[in-house]
Amino acid sequence: MVRESESGLPIEPVYGPAALAGWRPDAALGEPGAYPYTRGVYPTMYTGRPWTMRQYAGFGTARESNARYRRLIEHGTTGLSVAFDLPTQMGHDSDTPIAAGEVGRVGVAIDSVDDMEVLFGGIPLGSVSTSMTINAPAALLLLMYQLVGEQQGVTGSQLSGTVQNDVLKEYIARGTYIYPPQPSLRLTADIFRYCRAEIPRWNTISISGYHMAEAGASPAQEIAFTLANGIAYVRTALAAGMDVDDFAPRLSFFFVARTTLLEEVAKFRAARRIWARVMREEFGARNPKSQMLRFHTQTAGVQLTAQQPEVNLARVTVQGLAAVLGGTQSLHTNSFDEAIALPTEKAARLALRTQQVLAHETDVTATVDPFAGSYAVESLTDAVEEAVRALMARVEDLGGAVAAIERGFQKGEIERNAYRIAQETDAGARVVVGVNRFRTDEEEPYEPLRVDPAIEAQQAERLERLRAHRNRQAVTAALGALRKAAEGPDNVLYPMREALRARATSGEVCDALREVWGTYVPTDAF
Ligand code: 3HC
Repeated sequence: MVRESESGLPIEPVYGPAALAGWRPDAALGEPGAYPYTRGVYPTMYTGRPWTMRQYAGFGTARESNARYRRLIEHGTTGLSVAFDLPTQMGHDSDTPIAAGEVGRVGVAIDSVDDMEVLFGGIPLGSVSTSMTINAPAALLLLMYQLVGEQQGVTGSQLSGTVQNDVLKEYIARGTYIYPPQPSLRLTADIFRYCRAEIPRWNTISISGYHMAEAGASPAQEIAFTLANGIAYVRTALAAGMDVDDFAPRLSFFFVARTTLLEEVAKFRAARRIWARVMREEFGARNPKSQMLRFHTQTAGVQLTAQQPEVNLARVTVQGLAAVLGGTQSLHTNSFDEAIALPTEKAARLALRTQQVLAHETDVTATVDPFAGSYAVESLTDAVEEAVRALMARVEDLGGAVAAIERGFQKGEIERNAYRIAQETDAGARVVVGVNRFRTDEEEPYEPLRVDPAIEAQQAERLERLRAHRNRQAVTAALGALRKAAEGPDNVLYPMREALRARATSGEVCDALREVWGTYVPTDAF
């Protein structure tokens, strides 16, 4: 009986030599670390250096999150990853009415450079790489990070990390956008230019498929819509006058890893091959680093269950293995309790230990791309590539990613797939262990981590002190310069940096840009 993969592709019960008749490894694969990078972006991959264990974390105040980061470093994490609360992600100060109830809830509250300084207190920014999951206000948090680095005596060229800075996927899924697409893309290009000049080792964008996958996208949709967004960003930077090899080496990606391991490995291998060919053939990229699809993976949160939560440890292990066998550069493994609440300290440690078992107690770091030449995985890699290319062509026919977003195309395709998954689960055709099969009513009581509601008042007090002690005229003048830059062609990051240095708050900076650029209203808003 032929099973269907998550992308709706047939998975044969047996693959044999006929499956790869005419298949040529030199054309289809290339060597590890060589074009088209099917086998991985580095010649030695994990035999040279394991992937970065980069656990996404952040909640409450900067002080609480700083304590969590320092404990994660003690437990052996090798990269930081900041989760911001919704007010920060949406460009509102913690003491605004719209922020009520959300301050410090899904991430850390950051209102100013002072908060950023507390967030990284005791952490030398010259020797860590930090990812920041921030999109519309990505420029602000990047500049605050640079200003804190300056205070530590670390120059921009010594900083390394990533800002997600991928607003296009926010219009499709997740929703933390502020400005309309065109000014958002202008800001993205400004970040590319600023980093090339000021923070050259910084990964300027993390073009994400994760959130679309969590919203229901299939593996083929996840890759197709992500790469289509990537193409839109490349075109934006080229239209802004940059050369493709000036910015493309610092593009990065972010995908999900599901428990369907074979298709996931095929998905990652196909994605690298497609992107390499797009960058060389469509955009004429000559620098090999412009053709490499380097990516971070997070295990699929949507597959975690609140029922029998310990079973999630098994799911995350399989998902993490899929990411590693697929050649990820950086990995976040979800905590087993995340379907219930913010991860407890113990759950966060267990999630990291899962990666450490994969890296140090298995042999998956002993050889590069072990599935190469596999009848099944090479067949699946080709099949996923074909499905992805067909979907990318449909986006292109609609006028590219932005035009397709404005027609609701990607969102509609993902919602249809999400509905199919829900129907299959409800019908029991799709097994979810502990939920629609293998249920138990012996659930142990579980005490989730709770964020102290008092932190809202603490943040408001911090903002009051900041506004009382700063030079009001300097802030007003700096915000005026920012508005002026936003009205013209100049790179807005330079006046933005000076406004933040003068202690303008996140909300004030974002409001200055709202006054000039307006805010985005989705087409399907009722
Ligand atoms: N051989 C040679 N060099 C190697 C190597 C090898 N085998 N392995 C690594 N290296 C080098 C690399 O070239 C790099 O050098 P460089 O800095 O000079 O370029 C250095 O070692 C670090 O390696 P990587 O760049 O591969 O690994 P990083 O971890 O530093 O970067 C990344 C990985 C994907 C490129 C980067 O963009 C990144 O870290 N992304 C993380 C994104 C992230 O964490 N996102 C979280 C999202 S959570 C979210 O969205 C919300 C929630 O709801 C899901």
